[in-house]
Amino acid sequence: MDEASTIALTEPDLARFQTIAATARETFRDELYRPVYHFTPPANWMNDPNGLIEWNGQYHLFYQHHPFAPYWADMHWGHAVSDDLVRWQDLPVALAPDGDGPDRDGVFSGCAVDDHGTPTLIYTSVAGPEQTVSLATGDRNLLHWTKETNNPVIATPPANLRLLKTPDGTIHFRDPSVWREGDRWQMIIGSGVRDVGGTILRYSSPDLRAWTYEGPVLVGDAFVTDPVWTGTMWECPQLFPLGDRHVMIVSVWHEGKTQYLIAMVGRYHDGRYRPESTDLLDLGSQYAPQTFLDRLGRRILIGWLREQRPRDAQIAAGWSGAMTIPWECSLDAKGRLCLTPVAEVRQLRQAHRSIAGFDLSAAAEGEETAREFDGLAGDALELDVVFERGTAMVGVLLRRSPNGAEETRVSYDPERAVLAIDRSRSRVGGLGDGWGPAKIETRLDLDPGEDVRLSIFLDRSVIEVVANGRTMLTARVYPTRADSTGVGVFARGGKARLASIDCWKM
Ligand code: FRU
Repeated sequence: MDEASTIALTEPDLARFQTIAATARETFRDELYRPVYHFTPPANWMNDPNGLIEWNGQYHLFYQHHPFAPYWADMHWGHAVSDDLVRWQDLPVALAPDGDGPDRDGVFSGCAVDDHGTPTLIYTSVAGPEQTVSLATGDRNLLHWTKETNNPVIATPPANLRLLKTPDGTIHFRDPSVWREGDRWQMIIGSGVRDVGGTILRYSSPDLRAWTYEGPVLVGDAFVTDPVWTGTMWECPQLFPLGDRHVMIVSVWHEGKTQYLIAMVGRYHDGRYRPESTDLLDLGSQYAPQTFLDRLGRRILIGWLREQRPRDAQIAAGWSGAMTIPWECSLDAKGRLCLTPVAEVRQLRQAHRSIAGFDLSAAAEGEETAREFDGLAGDALELDVVFERGTAMVGVLLRRSPNGAEETRVSYDPERAVLAIDRSRSRVGGLGDGWGPAKIETRLDLDPGEDVRLSIFLDRSVIEVVANGRTMLTARVYPTRADSTGVGVFARGGKARLASIDCWKM
């Protein structure tokens, strides 16, 4: 290409686009599974959040998007903007593949930076089996994006590394994440080393255009399964300082399948990352989270919530994919990664109901005690639930039908130290392909004397849970009945006491 490719957008174009987006949103508004307060694409397909950045006091969310169909293909960057991180306004597609460019087969994931006042997107450009790094600069409103004439700015992965290559010839090398350190830009890229494991590569540059390969930041071991298997390739790496440590988050990919999220806490020094702990961050629906720092100094994480209904159902629905709410990252006194909803999420709270504590102990060994609450129901809720430390399995019932045939359970089992979301009755008869395990379980070790604290965000088909501020589990559920809106609590097989429930309609 001789000419830089630019999307020229006039005011009427923008207005027209927003009318179309609003009409699309209206079409899906009453669907049983369409979230009401989690971000979804106006229509069609969405996957990873991209280019998260605060710019002139507004938050920008770009995302992997197929603007013409509700399945993954032909990746573009969709775009939305928000004043408060919770109410988003649709903006036109920011980046599209260019017929003769290095991104002709897709504009894959990447990030946004402020290059001395110039908004700049750094993304994965895909042409056939080639994954390269390209760059585009924006106007001050972040609406017009001009691709660099010299794209790609990184044309080949580093040689002599035996990077993971699949039979179609693809060398897996994608998802640049860039930040400024001193007078140079630093970039990490996700990859894998054949027969070794997931790998993070580092580059540096004085100007975002000329990049020098600096070596691997971290190489995983795909033969180790304890404490968690880290797979053969890492997508969407995130590396950031937090407290007195550095956190590394990777999305584990293996043989064409997106798996789950891993978070490490450790030290980053001289271009090498040394994890001191490696844990699952979420093995539910969430994938490819991205983080950014806002002007208040908050490290905010937003992830993609994959659909867990079959592809046909997604196509019939006309849309696919949702984002998590924005979560603020911190480290606790024990150096564990903690996630708190950003304060702005409270703006979404409407009618509030609070229920004081009561005993939930089962009358006899092995029995279950359950309690539903009149007037406490809905499919778009925030719940803060605290159970005193006991011996019984305790939990919350969500999306429960009047006869109990349909329900979803979020539970904690103290005996096995397991937090779970049980979806075996989340849709009568299950869902088949794409559904994943009906019961999603993750380990949660409580500290001595610690109660069980569940922060739950329910939004039609979306469930996000963070237990005790540090253990995350997300899921999608697709109950068939419109009256599956009941909420309750339960305990099984021992001593249990509910300390409190706070519930807000959202
Ligand atoms: C993660 C991912 C990225 C890639 C993008 C393509 O979900 O596979 O590695 O850049 O999605 O849409």
